[in-house]
Amino acid sequence: MPTEDARKVFVHTFGCQMNEYDSAKIRAQLARDGFVGTSDPGQAHLILLNTCSIRDKAEQKMHSALGEYRLLKKRGQQVVIGIAGCVAQQEGKALLERYADVDLVFGPDAVSHVRELVRGALEGQRLLDTTFLDLAEYPFVADVDPDATNQIGAFVTIQKGCDNKCTFCIVPSTRGIEASRPSPQILTEVRELVARGVKEITLIGQNVNSYGLKTPSELTFAQLLRAVAAISGVERIRYTTSHPRDITDDVIAAHRDLDVIAAQLHLPVQSGNSRVLRRMKRFYTREHYLGVIEKLRAARPDMVFSTDFIVGFPGETDDEFEDTMRLLDEVGFVTSFSFKYSPRPGTSALRLGDEVSDEVAGARLTRLQDRQRELSLAWHRSLEGTEQTVLVEGPSRHDVGVVCGRASTFVMVNFPGDESLTGQQVKIKVTRGFTNSARGERLASVT
Ligand code: 5AD
Ligand code: SF4
Repeated sequence: MPTEDARKVFVHTFGCQMNEYDSAKIRAQLARDGFVGTSDPGQAHLILLNTCSIRDKAEQKMHSALGEYRLLKKRGQQVVIGIAGCVAQQEGKALLERYADVDLVFGPDAVSHVRELVRGALEGQRLLDTTFLDLAEYPFVADVDPDATNQIGAFVTIQKGCDNKCTFCIVPSTRGIEASRPSPQILTEVRELVARGVKEITLIGQNVNSYGLKTPSELTFAQLLRAVAAISGVERIRYTTSHPRDITDDVIAAHRDLDVIAAQLHLPVQSGNSRVLRRMKRFYTREHYLGVIEKLRAARPDMVFSTDFIVGFPGETDDEFEDTMRLLDEVGFVTSFSFKYSPRPGTSALRLGDEVSDEVAGARLTRLQDRQRELSLAWHRSLEGTEQTVLVEGPSRHDVGVVCGRASTFVMVNFPGDESLTGQQVKIKVTRGFTNSARGERLASVT
């Protein structure tokens, strides 16, 4: 049972960086009302599930976690249970109707007034808030997460929502229309994080390359990259997620000019076949995608790429899938996330018909993932003997006396060293490559 001295909140986050970030903002705001975080739901006065609905599996995960938390309440724990995020936005009232012991349901746009919602729920109200806010005055939350202290890397949101209409994707309906966060706010947050010791900034949004385009007076994404790079103390910049159609020449030039931008880009391709891409409404072809990769490599020869794939999209033939397999090799992705197509409520792909059987989709996924593992291993092995500068993230979770850090290409290197190296840039030599990481030895400190 929770003790009475401090109010404790347990936040269970599912899904993407946007949700991680929203959870951090939720914690930061609740801290103002005296809430402290706990990692033990059994000790919590407030349990929040920040949910994801991108695929059916993600949604099911949240229902099973919720089952466990409801059990705590049934056993007598005095706890308010809230469901936030994308499933909350999608299902809304239905969640309150289905689960009598859930007190609070709110979507991503309600994060800015979570304190009021939680106060109401603590007073015994059952509350629902899934309204989308007015974009002109969208209240991006400025509070910095108390947990950001001592972190080496931090996310900074630069936009919310998404105006694309990819036919498979639920996000436009759960996160609403795109709005860019004013750049002065972004830069202030970056400065604040750097002052707390953060070295690596990851700019996040559903489609970061379209940053600022709706507001003529706002910086473009490329200009924003340059402004963040100019802040002293920012040692590395990453950004995600990018849409291949929107990688413009000025962004490529920023990669060429600024070493502080990571030499790694996550560029979701979804499929290597242009007909499938058309049915997904991605608005680029296989050739365009390859052209973007080529330009980025010309600008920054050490650049590596990761991606997302969907297999078994409605109507995907064997030959079309082979195009995806070929693209994997042609680009030589260092990692990828791949998924079986999952039909989502309200998306237009539902109307395409021509379903691929689960068996075929599963076999395709296995082939793709097997080949990706080979490519990842080959890449890590190709680094053996090279020198890398890594930003040390902290002690390895598996081995005592070992620390881990990432190079600009995002390669994870484990090497003997002690915790005091955390936050430093260190030169190491790679001694062995594995599928997901490499091992190395220390040469010298850079900073
Ligand atoms: N089914 C399977 N995968 C999906 N993604 C998005 N929507 C779906 C869906 N309905 C994948 C895409 C996207 C990543 C975040 O999730 O590959 O880039
Ligand atoms: Fe999941 Fe998409 Fe929502 Fe992120 S934005 S939590 S990936 S549904």
